[in-house]
Amino acid sequence: MSDTLAPRRYSALTRSLHWIVALMVLATLPIGGIMVQEGLSRSTQDLLFILHKNTGVIILALVLVRIAWRLATPTPAMPATMPDWQVRAARAAHVALYGMLMVMAISGYVRVRAGGFPIEMLDALGVPSFVPRSDSLAETAQTIHRNARFVLVALILVHIAAALQHAWKRDGVFSRIWPPVGGKS
Ligand code: HEM
Ligand code: HEM
Repeated sequence: MSDTLAPRRYSALTRSLHWIVALMVLATLPIGGIMVQEGLSRSTQDLLFILHKNTGVIILALVLVRIAWRLATPTPAMPATMPDWQVRAARAAHVALYGMLMVMAISGYVRVRAGGFPIEMLDALGVPSFVPRSDSLAETAQTIHRNARFVLVALILVHIAAALQHAWKRDGVFSRIWPPVGGKS
């Protein structure tokens, strides 16, 4: 699609999904960190684990919808003033963000299922486990889940800094994804 035909901003579905997933991830990260701390009461810890696991599964589902929708719909053109290297860096960072969200959600899922623990929402829906029960698999997934979060947090910080810098310059990049609903494409 040529630049002249490309929309100015992402579709309302892409924008609303971006902000819903962003809010869920920004809540899930600290909840994950807090729930593994010593000294919490059993009931608080159980509640946080239930919240974390089930939000994580919803994030996984929304990210899959987002990637499918992203591939099926046209992408708005980047402002002509943006240097090539920045366009390439932004694309690479977005792919890495999608990738790390998948790594976090899948490793969390495998850690819980291979460990033989429940995921309340999926259990209520009768969705069976997709991985076998295995302590070594659960341990590997746990190590990945614990370490990958540092990469995800670093990417998010760089992403937010870049987004705010574009918002400050008003070069049209921020308005590609804002407002979450409404506004012409
Ligand atoms: C994008 C989604 C997710 C993010 C950003 C995320 C983030 C985190 C973080 C930051 C921790 C704390 C790690 C630590 O301090 O040791 C954690 C722990 C944990 N998460 Fe997630 N998580 C996500 C998805 C999931 C999912 C889908 C599940 C399971 C269905 C899950 C299950 C767990 C469990 C069981 C722990 C405790 C790990 C342990 O055994 O130490 N997470 N998560
Ligand atoms: C956990 C938080 C977040 C995640 C995981 C995330 C992820 C993403 C991803 C993957 C894209 C690429 C969209 C695509 O082309 O498919 C994107 C675009 C964008 N995000 Fe975020 N985002 C987060 C938070 C934020 C925040 C807090 C801001 C603003 C301060 C923001 C501003 C933007 C902007 C301006 C774009 C459009 C950039 C462009 O089209 O080049 N994001 N985000």
